[in-house]
Amino acid sequence: MSTDLHSRKTAAVEVEDLHYSIGSRRLLRGLTLDVAAGSSVAVTGPSGSGKTTLLCCLSGLIAASSGVIRIAGVDIAQASAGERAAMRLRTVGTVYQFGELLPELSPLENAALPVLLAGGNAKKAYVDAQSLLDELGVQDASSKKTGSLSGGERQRVAVARALIGRPSVVLADEPTGSLDQRTGDVVADLLFGLPERFECALIVVTHNPQIAARAERTLELTDGRLIADSEGGR
Ligand SMILES: Nc1ncnc2c1ncn2[C@@H]1O[C@H](COP(=O)(O)OP(=O)(O)O)[C@@H](O)[C@H]1O
Ligand SMILES: [Mg+2]
Repeated sequence: MSTDLHSRKTAAVEVEDLHYSIGSRRLLRGLTLDVAAGSSVAVTGPSGSGKTTLLCCLSGLIAASSGVIRIAGVDIAQASAGERAAMRLRTVGTVYQFGELLPELSPLENAALPVLLAGGNAKKAYVDAQSLLDELGVQDASSKKTGSLSGGERQRVAVARALIGRPSVVLADEPTGSLDQRTGDVVADLLFGLPERFECALIVVTHNPQIAARAERTLELTDGRLIADSEGGR
C-alpha cells in the first residue's frame, strides 16, 4: 500500500482532454484542469469563450463530447443524465450571477430546496439550512420572502443553497457581476473563505480582475483550453 495516499491533497476536480462541441463549433478543445480540495481557481476569458459551458460540464448539467471529468474521484464526463443529476446533488454546489433563487420562498426554504427536491430528510435540511444561513449572516431567514432581499443578501442565500449538500466543489459563474463593488467584495470574501471552512474546491468565473486576483490561481479560457494567466500572478 502506498504511503503517499495520505500526504496527497485530495483532487476535488480533475479534467483531462475535455472536448465539447455545439453543432460544428468546437468550444472546449482538449481542456485540462486540476483543483485540489481546499483550493481556489479563477477562470477568466472573453464573452462567448465557453466559461459557462465549462461550468455546466463540471456540474453535470451537460455531457462532455469526450474526455474525463472526475469530481471527487468519480468520472461524470460520459455518465447518463440520471447519474449526472445524482452526482450534482451530492457533490457540486453552484452560485449564479443573479442568485437564481425562488423569490416567493423564504431564504430558509431556498437554501434547503436541493435536499427537499432530492427527497432527503426535510427536518434535517431545514436545520442545516438554518445553521448555514446563521453562519453566513442572513437574518430572519424563515420569516421573509427572498424577493425582498438585497443583491448581497441574495448571494449569501445562494451560497447557503450551494453548500447544503456539503459539496466537494463550489462553482460560481460571475457571482459578483450584478453587485456594486462593496457588496461584490463582501460576497467575494465569503466565497474565497469557503475552501478552508468547508474543505471544498472553488472555481469562480469572473470578469473582474480584482476578484480573480484573490484566487490561488487564475486561468484564462482561450481557444478551448485553460492557460495560466500571465497577468494574474502576484
Ligand atoms: N445551447 C446552446 N446552443 C447553441 N449555442 C450555445 C449554447 N450554449 C452556448 N452557446 C454558445 O456557445 C458559446 C459559449 O457560450 P458560454 O459558455 O455561455 O460563454 P461564456 O460564458 O464564456 O460567455 C457562445 O457563443 C454561445 O452563444
Ligand atoms: Mg457565461
